[in-house]
Amino acid sequence: MDTIQSLRGMNDIKDSDAELLSYFLRQSTDIAIKHGYSYISTPILEQTALFQRSVGDSSDIVSKEMYRFTDKGDNDVCLRPEGTASIVRSFIEKKLDRAGGTHRFFYHGAMFRYERPQKGRLRQFHQFGCETFGEDSCMEDVFVIDLLGKILSSVGISYDIYINSLGCEDCMPIYKQNLIKKLQTISLCEDCSRRIATNPIRVFDCKNKTCQDKLKTVDKITDNLCETCHGDFEAVALALDNLGIKYYINKNLVRGLDYYTKTAFEFVSHDIGSQNAIAGGGRYDRLVAHLGGRQRSAVGFAIGVERLLELIKLPDRKRTIWYMGATSPQALKLLSQIVSARRDKDIVMTDYKSRSFVKHISNATKKFATNIAIIGDKELANGQVWTKDFMKNEENLVDISLF
Ligand code: HAM
Repeated sequence: MDTIQSLRGMNDIKDSDAELLSYFLRQSTDIAIKHGYSYISTPILEQTALFQRSVGDSSDIVSKEMYRFTDKGDNDVCLRPEGTASIVRSFIEKKLDRAGGTHRFFYHGAMFRYERPQKGRLRQFHQFGCETFGEDSCMEDVFVIDLLGKILSSVGISYDIYINSLGCEDCMPIYKQNLIKKLQTISLCEDCSRRIATNPIRVFDCKNKTCQDKLKTVDKITDNLCETCHGDFEAVALALDNLGIKYYINKNLVRGLDYYTKTAFEFVSHDIGSQNAIAGGGRYDRLVAHLGGRQRSAVGFAIGVERLLELIKLPDRKRTIWYMGATSPQALKLLSQIVSARRDKDIVMTDYKSRSFVKHISNATKKFATNIAIIGDKELANGQVWTKDFMKNEENLVDISLF
């Protein structure tokens, strides 16, 4: 019979990768909580309209990459391609948009995009993200960039930061109109020609070398910001300088999702392959209102966890792994007590049957235990446990009360 395999672009995360993933989630969760974020979990399945209205109908994510179907209740649904839209939906649904104040959420989980799989580009991948609502000062953008850097540094990852400003509802529409006029005079690839009609700024993201060369002389939004956006962009840059955070301004950085306003950023690693954007985010001040809530400023980021796995450096922490066994049926009862108590401190493997001393030693070696503890009739009578530390090659008889 044919064996059943996982779908293309959808991987099991196991063994050392699973250890790296859980280490990363522990670190990022801890740092996010210390920065005032609380955990939120939203459903993997959402109404398709949520992403059409937020990420945007014209984006590649929505127009080409959705896992979309009609469910048994005749609802048009899809697997979430990203987390931000769901957090905004939940924020509005809980009426937090009316509550005032600042709200900070972090989340992690699987996202789905029907892309062409390659190294670092999957159809099911995981993100860790943070979103702040209700803070319109651009200093929050700096706070968020700093936080993202701290999370990556905490797991030993180095990166370059690229920033840009995508303007606001005052300057972006005027810029777009002028851009369309300009683009109509240049011959670009098929994809770019389509984008002129749908979302012209996306042409700056084109990977085609000829398009890139032709677009070099075309005016960028960064040089056409209104006074407020320009002032905010300068303030963000200055605050990053003050914090000693190094960054590059990339005027071609337009992001693949339509909801951004003002600050946009990406963190890039030069130690992985071509899919080197390890995190991205920015400000999206219009999205809450666009999804039916009251106007609330928002800014956030998401990290692509799979792209980090080969970069994460686990701390050089020696773990104690016990193997514990009994050599008589009478000793088994006491064994179960010491196993349970020791599990509060260390990893403990055991054997539920009594076996010979030699068999226990051989089992412990096969299971790569660092320490072994054995109780037999003699030890039971003396209230002791025989132990050996394989790393130090040290044997001891320890009082059970002290073990
Ligand atoms: P994004 O740039 O689409 O932004 O995704 C964030 C990160 O997810 C990327 O930088 C990348 O590391 C990872 N990623 C994206 N697609 C894939 C894929 N197919 N395979 C593996 N990793 C991938 C967002 O999703 C926004 N929601 C970020 C955000 C939060 N903006 C504001 N708040």
